[in-house]
Amino acid sequence: MAKAKTIFLCRNCGHQAHKWIGQCPDCNEWNTHDEEMAERISKPSLLAGQPPRLIGDVTVDNFQTVSSGVPELNRVLGGGFVDGSVTLVGGEPGIGKSTLLLQAVAAMSRAGKTCLYVSAEESAEQVRLRADRLNAVVDNLWLVSETSLQGVLAHCDSLKPDMVIIDSIQTIHDPDLTSAPGSVGQVRHCAHGLVTEAKRRAMSTVLVGHVTKEGGLAGPRALEHVVDTVLAFEGDRHHALRLLRAVKHRFGATDELGVFEMMGTGLESVSDPSRLFLSDRAKGVAGSVVVPVLDGHRPLLVEVQALVAPSNLASPRRSAQGVDTGRLSLIIAVLERRSQIGFAKTDVFTSAIGGVKITEPAADLGMALALASSVTGNPLDSGLVACGEVGLAGELRQSAQTERRLAEAARVGFTKAVIPAGAPATPDGIIGLRAETLSEALHLTGMMGNQSGFRPPASARRASQGRARSGAEADVDWAEVRPLRSIPND
Ligand code: TYD
Ligand code: MG
Repeated sequence: MAKAKTIFLCRNCGHQAHKWIGQCPDCNEWNTHDEEMAERISKPSLLAGQPPRLIGDVTVDNFQTVSSGVPELNRVLGGGFVDGSVTLVGGEPGIGKSTLLLQAVAAMSRAGKTCLYVSAEESAEQVRLRADRLNAVVDNLWLVSETSLQGVLAHCDSLKPDMVIIDSIQTIHDPDLTSAPGSVGQVRHCAHGLVTEAKRRAMSTVLVGHVTKEGGLAGPRALEHVVDTVLAFEGDRHHALRLLRAVKHRFGATDELGVFEMMGTGLESVSDPSRLFLSDRAKGVAGSVVVPVLDGHRPLLVEVQALVAPSNLASPRRSAQGVDTGRLSLIIAVLERRSQIGFAKTDVFTSAIGGVKITEPAADLGMALALASSVTGNPLDSGLVACGEVGLAGELRQSAQTERRLAEAARVGFTKAVIPAGAPATPDGIIGLRAETLSEALHLTGMMGNQSGFRPPASARRASQGRARSGAEADVDWAEVRPLRSIPND
């Protein structure tokens, strides 16, 4: 059989060549030529072949979803998989993509669907071993170890599954293309072939895609346009927590967050993540505070911890795990300049517990309180949450959707919230401690004995130095760490 004709197209400018070239003669970019079939597969579309209709005549209940059997996956998908839809699940190797999808197809097979799991990375025996552990050995679930596109299409032809999982798209290749499996040209070509097949048969398809070190989907960035839904599976390998997000979703919202816990028996859906995050919390310890953050649409209560310790380093350490380094520096500066808490001779460690990553400024106030609490050795009230952005002038600003955050705190049993003065009314069960400035918030929570402006009272300065001074301001060592509790309140 004659080999199919292929061409090499420049990703950057569209230049065509008959063989691979390193540098594009048109745009001078390097390594931009991808191999493609000469007669390219036409771009598939769910809507192809329909005549134009008046917008008022278009009914919206077309998208029937089929439950994936995994509650948190359904939440992210807005109910389940849509027939004929193509979903790309991206994530770092080892994060649990194969586990999640095997659990989903097992549940769907149990519900009577015919499912085909194409493993292009592992042998059928390896998948079977995992399925034993996941209790996923069920009728209607078919398994094949296959790496060629034509092979996969032939299996779909003979089995006519309702659902097919391709694990992973980077290891599927078309032997008609000369480029190596996993190259951009191969991945794109195979994805096009699979998408066309999915639309033609109204067969739900899930493509697994590995993510590169830089965080992009390896090669198939271009795939994001072709598929209906892109899900990102994230987590820290040292923690059991896994988060699933929709990056793109043609059939629903993209702001839902799915939370899972990796157990010995597979991924457990976590319906109440706030309780999970707070389950190991040590109460009555200085330097800990709970912050209601919003991830997409979902409020989560996360414990933020800070530890301030004396340092011998010329430039002391600033460590931020799961919280933003830039925001930490800003809060330290504001605490130093506006609330007279010195950090120049201290190492500062902050962390969001449970492998969560907080990027929101809404956690500023919580971080500031945790830092002050660690410096003073004064634990914060364990029934308290803090929510608000800290400005450079030391003022507190409202965060978006404060009501939702506080409602979640109330649900889990918190009773007090430190919030900016202008924040909306607190829900039932939560007493609002309102503050206009960070210093005021420190005062309200017992982290600071005074509410002075830039300088604490002279008596406090003398007390902190342990020896009488004339009060000459230049001599005051602001960097000294001292428990603010010991400062008399005058
Ligand atoms: P896997 O689904 O193979 O990841 P991916 O397909 O994203 O590469 O999951 C691999 C990790 O999950 C592996 O390190 C072991 C762990 N794991 C569990 O902790 N419990 C389980 O029940 C299973 C199946 C895997
Ligand atoms: Mg895998």
